[in-house]
Amino acid sequence: MTSATAPGKIILLGEHAVVYGRPALAVPVRQLGATVTVTSSDLAPAPTNASWLERISIYAPQVGRSGPLANFPVGSSPDPLAFVIKSVLDMLSVEPPWLHIQVDSTIPVASGLGSGAAVSVALIRALSSHLGKPLADEQVNQIAFETEKMYHGTPSGIDNTVITFSQPVFFIKGSPIQTFSVGKPFTLLIADSGVPAATRDSVADVRRLWEQDRDRLEVVFSCIGSLVMQARSAMRSGDLDSLGKLMTRNHALLQELTVSSPELDRLVLTAMSAGALGAKLSGGGRGGNMLALVQEADLEKVEMALKSAGSRKVISTKLG
Ligand code: MEV
Repeated sequence: MTSATAPGKIILLGEHAVVYGRPALAVPVRQLGATVTVTSSDLAPAPTNASWLERISIYAPQVGRSGPLANFPVGSSPDPLAFVIKSVLDMLSVEPPWLHIQVDSTIPVASGLGSGAAVSVALIRALSSHLGKPLADEQVNQIAFETEKMYHGTPSGIDNTVITFSQPVFFIKGSPIQTFSVGKPFTLLIADSGVPAATRDSVADVRRLWEQDRDRLEVVFSCIGSLVMQARSAMRSGDLDSLGKLMTRNHALLQELTVSSPELDRLVLTAMSAGALGAKLSGGGRGGNMLALVQEADLEKVEMALKSAGSRKVISTKLG
């Protein structure tokens, strides 16, 4: 039996603009995770000429998939789990034995916390290790990115990168991974709006807006990119007041991109009224989670306010 776990993620600043080449900042969230366990099936019949699809079965209740892989779509629009497994087998050039794969995740789906990428990364690691050929991080990231393309259409690659390497990243699409430093520790509250929203849809809508008015959208993306650069400096120097303001300005620009929602806006306003230094949606938007930068003394007050304003779940994560 072989298991692997991958964390969730949050985007601190820069989502959507990062798809268009601007920088973004993201961190792993280790309180949340996806775990994949691969077991060689002792119920396997004697060797037959069964295909790999018949030899592998999946139990993944949180992502709504269970049964033999042969029941999942493959072909031109494959199921993401089947796609990951096939990619690993192709990269390793192995014929799999009879296997049972269990996926457990505490990362809510369609919430901006990287559930799809975390399942992919944990599955790639658990399967390749179980087959005796553990893949290197770069290879894990490459398969996870190809899989993200099926979830999101035109992903930047930030989700799979922060989850594969499990460290804070300053990310620019197509550039080597860079991390960033934090001069003074700080705490973020992550509040779930309770509204599931597919990143694929918001990314596609932003693309439509961009196709209609490239000049205006490029200006918005560049403004977001500039906030990201300033936020990186503010984190480095421990200037949390500035970091908070930059986050809130980023939220306003995400509103311009039409990816906020009444629920997210209400949570952002609530956090600010309760004393947060800054707040914004995180990830694809339209639903999912928001982030608030909160000083230690105000944590309880802001958390209570977010819950009273309708947040289903609030977790805190510390950086630095
Ligand atoms: C999703 O977590 C972040 C987006 O910028 C999409 C992407 O970068 O692929 C919305």
